[in-house]
Amino acid sequence: MDPEEAKRQVAREALRFVRTSEVLGVGAGSTVATFVDALGASDVRPRAAVVASERTRELLERIGVTVVGLGADLIPLPVYVDGADEIDGELRLIKGGGGALAREKVIASASALFVCIASEDKLVRGLGAFPLAVEVLPMAVHLAARELRALGGAPAVRDGFQTDNGNLIVDVRGLDFADPATLEGAIGAIPGVVECGIFARRRADVAIVGTEGGVRILGRPTDSPVL
Ligand code: 5RP
Repeated sequence: MDPEEAKRQVAREALRFVRTSEVLGVGAGSTVATFVDALGASDVRPRAAVVASERTRELLERIGVTVVGLGADLIPLPVYVDGADEIDGELRLIKGGGGALAREKVIASASALFVCIASEDKLVRGLGAFPLAVEVLPMAVHLAARELRALGGAPAVRDGFQTDNGNLIVDVRGLDFADPATLEGAIGAIPGVVECGIFARRRADVAIVGTEGGVRILGRPTDSPVL
C-alpha cells in the first residue's frame, strides 16, 4: 500500500480513541502530522494537547488546539497517540527517528493508553535494524559514545541536529536486542544519557497498523475504543 494512504487510514482510525473533553497526548513525526490533519478535518476536538515536539505544537495550534504543559493535575493523560520506527509482536517499539524520543517517552509514561499508529512496514520480528536514537547532553557525548561501544554498539552523532531540549542525538547500530527492556535500562544508566528510543518498559497498548487489507488493530482494546 502507498505509505501516505496507510498513514491517512491509521490517522482516521486513531480519532476513535480521542476524547473530546480530555487533554490528549500527541507525539511527533510524519504519521502524527497526518493524524493532526485528520483531527483538523474532523469534528473531534480534545480539550487541549500535551506535545512531544515543537513541530507538533505548531501543527496543533494551526488547527485551533491549545497546547499545554504536562501539569500534575493532567497525569495520567487518558490517551497518547504517536508513531514508531519499529514495532515488535509484543508492541515494544523503537522510536526517535525524528529525535523527539525523550519527550515522547515522558508523555507515553504519563498516559493510561498509548495508541501507536504506523504503516505495516514498521512491523518487525525483532527490534534493532533501525538505528537506535539516544539523546545525550552535549558535554557527555564522548563518554556516552564510549559506554555505548562497551555495550556492543557502533555510535554516530547525528550530524547538525539538536533536539528540542538542546541536546545531541547519537544513533547506534549493532546493539543486541535479545532483551530490549534490559538494554533500555543499561543505556538509560549511562551518565549524560537523557533517554534512548527503546520503548520496552513503556510499550504501546494498542497499535493501529495500515495494511494492504485495511487497518489492523493489535493489542488491547481491540474493539472498545475509549469514547
Ligand atoms: C520521532 C518518532 C516518530 O514517531 C518515528 O520516527 C516515526 O516517524 P514517522 O511517522 O515519520 O515514520 O519517534 O521521534
